[in-house]
Amino acid sequence: MGDNQLDSCEKQKKRTITIICFLGSIAGLLFGLDTGVMSGALQFVAVEFSLSAAMQERVMGSLMLGAACGAIFAGWLSYYIGRKYSLLVASVLFIIGSLFCALTPNVEILVSARVLLGIAIGVASYAAPLYLSEIAPEKVRGRMISLYQLLITVGLFTAFVSDTFLSYYGAWRWMLGIVIIPSVFLFLGVLVLPRSPRWLASKGRSNEAKQVLEKIRLTKQEAEIELYDIHESMKVRQTGWMLFQNNPHFRRSVALGVTLQIMQQFTGINVVLYYAPKIIGMAGFSSVAEQMWGAVGVSIVNVLATFIAIGVVDRWGRRPTLLLGFSVMACSLCLLGLMLSLNIGTVWACYFSVVMLLVFIAGFAMSAGPLIWVLCSEIQPLKGRDFGITISTATNWLANMVLATTFLSLLETFGSANTFWIYAVLNISFIILTWRFVPETKGISLERIEANLMEGRKLRDIGQ
Ligand code: BGC
Repeated sequence: MGDNQLDSCEKQKKRTITIICFLGSIAGLLFGLDTGVMSGALQFVAVEFSLSAAMQERVMGSLMLGAACGAIFAGWLSYYIGRKYSLLVASVLFIIGSLFCALTPNVEILVSARVLLGIAIGVASYAAPLYLSEIAPEKVRGRMISLYQLLITVGLFTAFVSDTFLSYYGAWRWMLGIVIIPSVFLFLGVLVLPRSPRWLASKGRSNEAKQVLEKIRLTKQEAEIELYDIHESMKVRQTGWMLFQNNPHFRRSVALGVTLQIMQQFTGINVVLYYAPKIIGMAGFSSVAEQMWGAVGVSIVNVLATFIAIGVVDRWGRRPTLLLGFSVMACSLCLLGLMLSLNIGTVWACYFSVVMLLVFIAGFAMSAGPLIWVLCSEIQPLKGRDFGITISTATNWLANMVLATTFLSLLETFGSANTFWIYAVLNISFIILTWRFVPETKGISLERIEANLMEGRKLRDIGQ
């Protein structure tokens, strides 16, 4: 082959892998879209079906309940039918769920359809990062988790923008139905994706795994080396549940993963995201348009600040970034609570409250947003990685559900200022928890972290 031919072949393969990764990431976009759309639609849905606060919480929380179940079920599904077909199942559920949400004649069907959508998100949020990490070349594997998080934030942003435009017409059915478009893209995209070479090899289909690798790696030699490495790493059998029962050190890393995810959710992030228009209303902006555009602002800051995290995570490290993030969130929530309790009512005071909301979002997106996912994928020993990550992902969704289904009741019981102060206190306690238990894993190999954990070192020191 001449140099020119080699060059164009290399370019062609790079293009193929970029397209494959992009298609896989659409699942992240849907994750963001589906969790976000209800934020703008809820006020219209509440009026249409005369919903009480408790019922509105149920509409919000049903998605998270489904997602927690989906995440648990996904481990089993993606083991048996593979990552590609799991994503296909998820995209069909996305389409059906969105259709039922848009056409629902009553709140019961809406809640059931949201559970279905939740299951789709749970499956996609497990299978997509796994697929991406198995298909992407080693050099860009690390960036994939951050890219995936970035797409979640882009999905949330898209949801808020489309909600805002549609809110002028009160078109909540369109808000919920529009998600069908990217779902169909996901379905069509996944159809043309190759299967994960690692999954194929794990099912004894080494020839097919080799064919896929040859298509997506630059040289035949690269493909062969990777197939060899896959076979080597498969010698470590996944014995999650048994390891959990018998090994106290593994129980510690699972507990750390669970705690990290609880911390991420109990910062109050999704309360702010899902109820953004409502909170902006409480801050003094009474028109629906102001509230909706304010929510768009919140979601833009969420996207932009995620870039900060991508830039600093490997330079500053996990611990300092998390400590800074929790501190920023605690301070901004304290001040937001203060403004709500003073109830000043001037334009200046309204803007200041919204700025505090934006500072809070920035604090989350530059730290706990992507970092908790990064840490959860780093701290589990190889033998129990699938099990550990399944448990922590399901915890993320359960904790998310608890928050989404208690916020309005907290507001009613304690009032708005006290509710935000409760979240501020939680963020302060996370500074302490991070200080005491979270390891610094920057620049340390996963094997070293595992060896330290299994030697019985303190959790905080397993990254040394
Ligand atoms: C969290 C989601 C949240 C999103 C916001 C993710 O890391 O797990 O619950 O909605 O960040 O960007």
